[in-house]
Amino acid sequence: MAPLSPDRLDPAALDGRRVAVLGFGAQGRAQALNLRDSGIDVVVGLRDASPHRAECAREGLEVLDPAAAARACDVCAMLVPDEVQPRLYAETLAPALRPGSALLFAHGYNIHYRKLLPRADLDVVMVAPLGIGEQVRRQYELGRGVPALLAVHQDASGQAAAVAGAYATADGHARAAVFQTTFSAETETDLFAEQAVLCGGLGQLITAAFETLTEAGYPEELAYFCCLHEVQLIAGLVQSRGIAGMRRSISSTAAYGDASRGPRVIGAQSRQAMREMLAEIRDGRFAAELGAEMARGAPTLAAWRKAAEEHPIEAVGARLRALMPWLEQG
Ligand SMILES: NC(=O)c1ccc[n+]([C@@H]2O[C@H](COP(=O)([O-])OP(=O)(O)OC[C@H]3O[C@@H](n4cnc5c(N)ncnc54)[C@H](OP(=O)(O)O)[C@@H]3O)[C@@H](O)[C@H]2O)c1
Repeated sequence: MAPLSPDRLDPAALDGRRVAVLGFGAQGRAQALNLRDSGIDVVVGLRDASPHRAECAREGLEVLDPAAAARACDVCAMLVPDEVQPRLYAETLAPALRPGSALLFAHGYNIHYRKLLPRADLDVVMVAPLGIGEQVRRQYELGRGVPALLAVHQDASGQAAAVAGAYATADGHARAAVFQTTFSAETETDLFAEQAVLCGGLGQLITAAFETLTEAGYPEELAYFCCLHEVQLIAGLVQSRGIAGMRRSISSTAAYGDASRGPRVIGAQSRQAMREMLAEIRDGRFAAELGAEMARGAPTLAAWRKAAEEHPIEAVGARLRALMPWLEQG
């Protein structure tokens, strides 16, 4: 997958087009400010009671309600939470968007799983930053950018890819790299990584290791420091240097333990579980299960959150983190 060449990312495709950024949260704030600083005509779409109206005013950004913003724009960036998007589109945006305008997403979930069915006359594109909103803004301010994924789901105007490429450039992503993908591949890989590695896998790994040490009689403070606190150090090394680079940066004892014991932790059973999880994502079983849970008011999720809050690792963590107030600053 090679990065898109500059001719696919020509900012001129947004000339004379107005962009509405719906939402001023993690991504909405970063992208509205980046687009404005790139010289794009931006309007922010917010509810009347939004606590973000004051900051938009301080930044000199025009704010309209979501319906008016949709009526006034050529490109409508859906930067509100994924679970809110289907209803916002159906009730507010679908009747308001001008024929031939573009609907832009930062994640493919609702389109891929058909939770949101856009009008046939709209372009439907994705520019998904490979970083959190704070990084998208910070790197832009530093004259750099975070990479992004670009996809086209529907090309009614014949201009969909060009508009998405120009948007990616205005948001700073072309300064790093923009890769073309599909809504399906972005959604499925994103869900899989959350479940297998970033959230599901990592959380379970830390908790199981903490429990193994404390059950064996070690103090929970020791277990917390070595199994949870130090993850940040290794994650930083893995991100900046790769796994082999991390191994070059740790002691021979750690590297030998890693290579000889790691495969016992993530063995055949874990790999089979990963294949099954991926299959559930790809055939829609995970999305159907999640949809049913949300329709019931998310009682199972609430119970899981409560159990996590009550786990002993949280009490010891709260005590130890209070001794390190600098953690918040990174
Ligand atoms: N978080 C990230 O860094 C990140 C990274 C990559 C992709 N994404 C994708 O980016 C998109 C936006 O995610 P996000 O994390 O930036 O969202 P977010 O921070 O949770 O969005 C908050 C904004 O959405 C507005 N909002 C919430 N409910 C609304 C409603 N019913 N009607 C109108 N506005 C509503 C809020 O309005 P108020 O101002 O009224 O509170 C607020 O301005 C998602 O598709 C997500 O998957 C996010």
